Amino acid sequence: MEFTLCVWTQIDVAARGDPFSGSPLFSREGRVARSTSNVSRRGGTRGLDWYAVSITILGIETSCDETGIALVRDGELLADVTATSMDEYARYGGIIPEIASRAHVQTMLPTLDAALEKAGVSLQDIDAVAVTAGPGLVGSLTVGVAAAKALAYSLGKPLYGINHIIGHLAVDELVDGPFPEKFIGLVVSGGHSSILRVGSIATDVEELGGTLDDAAGEAFDKVGRLLGLPYPGGPHIDRLAREGDREAIRFPRGLSQGKDKARHPYDFSFSGLKTAVARYVEGLKERGEEIPTADIAAGFSEAITDVLTEKALNACEDFGCDTLVIGGGFSANSRLRELAGQRAAARGITVRIPPIRYCTDNGAMVASLGYALVSGGLESSHLDITVDTSMDLNRIQM
Ligand code: KG4
Ligand code: ZN
Repeated sequence: MEFTLCVWTQIDVAARGDPFSGSPLFSREGRVARSTSNVSRRGGTRGLDWYAVSITILGIETSCDETGIALVRDGELLADVTATSMDEYARYGGIIPEIASRAHVQTMLPTLDAALEKAGVSLQDIDAVAVTAGPGLVGSLTVGVAAAKALAYSLGKPLYGINHIIGHLAVDELVDGPFPEKFIGLVVSGGHSSILRVGSIATDVEELGGTLDDAAGEAFDKVGRLLGLPYPGGPHIDRLAREGDREAIRFPRGLSQGKDKARHPYDFSFSGLKTAVARYVEGLKERGEEIPTADIAAGFSEAITDVLTEKALNACEDFGCDTLVIGGGFSANSRLRELAGQRAAARGITVRIPPIRYCTDNGAMVASLGYALVSGGLESSHLDITVDTSMDLNRIQM
């Protein structure tokens, strides 16, 4: 790996005071200083040995139906462009993997060009290529990884195959600044509802629990279908729920009491809840009664967001973390945002949730995690990596 942009020299150190805040530091040999505090402990020699280097990362996301390309330089987002094939799926009521893969092939180069133009950088300015290697749909992932390999190989730059789910947390650093020493992550999307303990986003992530059946977004999409809402149901239920009474119907909270809770403190189960909603609707239909869709949406949303926030905040307390970071497509949900904020404040915990455009799948999340890996001095991935559709959440990179 070769890093060419030496921004500060020994003379600059004297002139600028402390140039080490912010930028990662490299030795002449290309070794990365893991933290600036290590470097300062080297006393007077640091100006001789270490260079602050500007690093530009290209991030490519294609795990599902969004082609996301972003550029991050020194922890700052330069551009983030997304193309989506979501509109294709409304008539099918769900994603068709074959259509998604083909759409990625078609949109990859135009999206890349748009991102480079927006960022004002050329391919030659890129220092490393990061790409989602899993989890996700096999065809979709393969398009992104193939594109990333081709770019990395042709540019002679390192490749970093990263974990999509951990990217959903990493993107928050671009918005809310550096992460604290440790935190709890809650990633809620169409495929995952997971609680993670994070020491370092680049090296230390542990899955504490996840869903035993449906993910939160998946449950929303299924209940959306049940209520006759367009696909994906998540945002429609969210909107409808705001018009309903969340106390009107109390739906069950899975794994939240007694032995179930003790055995599964950080796990979720939403399929029983989904069945309860289906039974409730069937009962009304049989009796010929009107279906109060807004109240059902509100009661259902309440049940899911109640369990998600409660378990994630319990994990914060259990692991001595004063920060909860929430990410993933479902974290766009307005009730989740509201409830997490209220409950965390009551427990003295800080909640960080990125703006909605960074909650759904995007390239910035990949570039951000790629930047954390490069600036953390982590080895790059081999050019022969494969995709991993069910990538382990304890694994940050391939
Ligand atoms: O992270 P994401 O974009 O893709 C996956 O990796 O799955 O998440 C998509 C999921 C879908 O299930 C969608 O219905 C859900 O996030 N979603 C929402 C909202 N916006 C998106 N669910 C509830 N409320 C929303 N506002
Ligand atoms: Zn996602």
